[in-house]
Amino acid sequence: MDRAAIILAAGAGTRMKSALPKVLHPVAGLPMLGHVILGLKGAGVGRIVVVTAPDADQARAYATSLGADSVVQDKQLGTGHAAAAAGGALKDFKGEVMVAYGDMPLLTKEAFQAAFAARPKDGLVIVAFQAADPGQYGRVLLDKTGMLERIVEFKDASDAERRTDLCNAGLMVADAGKFFGWAEKLDNRNAQGEFYLTDVPALAKKDGARCAVAQIGETEAMGVNSRAELAEAERQMQKRLRDKALKAGVTMTAPETVFLSHDTTFEADVEIEPFVVFGAGVTVKSGARIRSHSHLEGAIVSGGAIIGPFARLRPGATIGECAHIGNFVEVKNSVIGRGSKANHLTYLGDASVGANANIGAGTITCNYDGFGKYRTEIGDGAFIGSDTALVAPVKVGAGAITGAGSVITKDVAPDALAVARGSQTEKPGWAKLFRDLKRKKRD
Ligand code: UD1
Ligand code: CA
Repeated sequence: MDRAAIILAAGAGTRMKSALPKVLHPVAGLPMLGHVILGLKGAGVGRIVVVTAPDADQARAYATSLGADSVVQDKQLGTGHAAAAAGGALKDFKGEVMVAYGDMPLLTKEAFQAAFAARPKDGLVIVAFQAADPGQYGRVLLDKTGMLERIVEFKDASDAERRTDLCNAGLMVADAGKFFGWAEKLDNRNAQGEFYLTDVPALAKKDGARCAVAQIGETEAMGVNSRAELAEAERQMQKRLRDKALKAGVTMTAPETVFLSHDTTFEADVEIEPFVVFGAGVTVKSGARIRSHSHLEGAIVSGGAIIGPFARLRPGATIGECAHIGNFVEVKNSVIGRGSKANHLTYLGDASVGANANIGAGTITCNYDGFGKYRTEIGDGAFIGSDTALVAPVKVGAGAITGAGSVITKDVAPDALAVARGSQTEKPGWAKLFRDLKRKKRD
């Protein structure tokens, strides 16, 4: 059966105290809404409609960028009202529809799949979890057969009802046509004067539909309403990503100090020392070693390469096999060839370095003149002397050497030596004469 989903994301998110719509706050580098959309797609959902607030242009643009549709909920009158707002966008859709909340970044595709799988034929399923601290979550009441009796919101619940620790996660699946029929019939006669999505099962039951309850873990069910909860979601997501990396054959001596992005890709037998941060878009291949205090984003590190300690790889850095990028070296938009070394205090930007080149300490590619960016090309086996400034655009041929302290402004031929610095002169005894004179004046 075809699957569609409605993601509710129009709530004010006041507790975040942010100009950014709540669902765009990132967890492991990906907006919360992105986690939900990708999870749903992974569970075979073909059409996704995101319900947004009128002023949330950014949220709509983001939804579009991930191939989801969006609609506007004019006024925030409750979760049931929000779900009904997607009715127009899905009016021709025949199949089952899931309603999910946009502020639940820890839901996995497996959780979504489990919900779809648990829906009784011609019925409805909601997703619940056992909470250690049920707080203000809606409470899920079961009948004697383990089917859903009803969901009661915390503010409407009696003391006895509040004592149950089975909570509503906020996922529901039903036949799309039937769902919108029920959503139309909701009223707002409750403690908050809102149209509750959680009243849909009661209407479904009046229609004779069976209502089942699927269960997921408490961590997955976590909703983010404040910055403290955002930090907690990040902590949980990092744990999940680290566990996945360890399972995939990555060695981490102190995994709790390594920070990963949702899309970090590792091959087996990668080694990561403590205190490393991965931004978006990094791939590290088998046998590479990332040493302490390095920061990587948008980079590819090939097998056998060593990065750091204290290295920075910025977007477009491609590090070849067995290459070394050492302490206080920054590489941006540059390809470093197999076996090449830049071990100390260097900036390589918009450069291509061949194989087995040696980039001396303090080398700088001067790639920017305040207007444009220019490329530096360094050939195989070249030896760049310490403290060389390479004023781009410029090429250093294969096997060439630049003298330490040179400012290279013109191309250097293969196997040539280029020296571009003042030549050394010497005045015998001058230093001693100078000191004697100064001392005489002083005393
Ligand atoms: C909701 C559930 C509660 C459940 C909890 C799980 C209802 C009535 N209650 O409560 O049973 O235990 O989630 O986290 O559904 N939204 C809109 N438009 C609105 C109101 C909300 O789009 O008019 C969106 C919000 O942006 C959010 C989601 O719906 O993504 C949930 O709303 P929220 O106010 O956070 O609901 P809770 O009070 O947490
Ligand atoms: Ca919530």
